[in-house]
Amino acid sequence: MQIAIVYDSSTGKTKAAAEQMGETARAAGHECTVESIQNADPAQVTSADAICVGSWTKGLFVIRQGPTEATLSFMERLGPLDGKPAAVFTTYDLAIGKTLKKMAAPLEVRGANVTGELKSKGPHAANGFDAWVKTLET
Ligand SMILES: Cc1cc2nc3c(=O)[nH]c(=O)nc-3n(C[C@H](O)[C@H](O)[C@H](O)COP(=O)(O)O)c2cc1C
Repeated sequence: MQIAIVYDSSTGKTKAAAEQMGETARAAGHECTVESIQNADPAQVTSADAICVGSWTKGLFVIRQGPTEATLSFMERLGPLDGKPAAVFTTYDLAIGKTLKKMAAPLEVRGANVTGELKSKGPHAANGFDAWVKTLET
């Protein structure tokens, strides 16, 4: 499959996580692009077979957590994702609140099948990403 991983990263942890996840996907036999949402083309991401979107958790640490505004506005620019498998992930320090639900919703509205809601405390591949990749056809 062609997998598109896009991420929003401020200090580099989400970027490092996304790049590790790209390696995992390629090692499993997929083609995989890894790009920041600042550089990624929404049309190209829309055309991938499977999509993974990552954001750092932004909030007041114990309340009001969510993805970044840039992540949400990138997802608003995606086209129809009818039935495509998708995953969302976040990096965080303390608590993610509803961050992953807030990221899954705009993909689900576009018809994606969000089968992974993953998180990582630090610059490492999100827990469970390898299992999510195993659910995809090569
Ligand atoms: C303004 C701001 C708000 C944050 N809010 C939260 C939060 O509510 N909960 C949390 O666990 N981490 C929070 N963090 C920590 C980041 O989500 C975490 O360090 C993340 O891994 C940073 O990713 P990055 O290096 O890709 O930017 C916040 C960081 C900043 C700068």
